[in-house]
Amino acid sequence: MSNNLTSQSKKSDGLHVAVIMDGNGRWAARRGLPRVAGHRAGVAALKRIVEHAPDVGVCVLTVYAFSCDNWARPAAEVQSLFWLMRAFLRLETERLRRKSVRVQIIGRRDRVPAAVLREVNRTEFVTAAGRRLLLRVAIDYSAREAIARAASLIPERAEMGDARGALQYELTREAGEVDLLIRTGGEKRLSDFLLWESAYAELYFTDCMWPEFGPAQLDAALAEFRHRERRFGAVPDAAVPRSAIAVGGAR
Ligand code: IPE
Ligand code: IPE
Ligand code: MG
Repeated sequence: MSNNLTSQSKKSDGLHVAVIMDGNGRWAARRGLPRVAGHRAGVAALKRIVEHAPDVGVCVLTVYAFSCDNWARPAAEVQSLFWLMRAFLRLETERLRRKSVRVQIIGRRDRVPAAVLREVNRTEFVTAAGRRLLLRVAIDYSAREAIARAASLIPERAEMGDARGALQYELTREAGEVDLLIRTGGEKRLSDFLLWESAYAELYFTDCMWPEFGPAQLDAALAEFRHRERRFGAVPDAAVPRSAIAVGGAR
């Protein structure tokens, strides 16, 4: 089995888990609550997972908080989502720093409200030395946009050789590829999340709504992941991620 072959990573000793935190609205609606109550409960769930993840072998956690397409939601909901993100960053930064969690935001920054961006910059600065967990929060994120942006940098990276290698470098140099991608909320789609980085990710879909996803559910997802056989296109015993060969040479 090749579960430890986390492709071409900086992170030799842990997994990159990505989560599409879906189902907040339906969780709230089922309780007769406004959608924002679901988002608030979603933030509480995120805190629990961030606490638990490093204890169970996760060294990079990338979570989908707001997609470029989420701007299509009613203005009041968008506003509350950004309010909650700002509050999360402001209230949690010190605790995250103490727990050696490094926070990075991925996604566009030009449309994020200024007050949120200030908090983002402060949190990234304050937690920069964190080594136990890299928490990447995708805000105003679109994988297709990220790929297009990386492609626009290719001419500057001519020394990297082919276009695929250059894109691979640009898109995975910070956090490596995704090992396990979890989506809560019952839908079975990627909704424009980490399309490149998840090329060989194991996919795990659960009907559990995000506010109800806790340490036990993460453990269950990881247990299933550990039973999967990753082959990266090869035969079982020779499974090496192709991207590792393409960019960094076989390891
Ligand atoms: C995920 O929950 C949070 C965001 C997309 C910001 P949803 O708000 O999509 O919840 P559902 O899918 O409507 O239940
Ligand atoms: C994906 O969920 C985005 C986040 C979880 C932030 P959506 O609820 O926006 O996705 P669709 O619309 O069901 O595909
Ligand atoms: Mg949804």
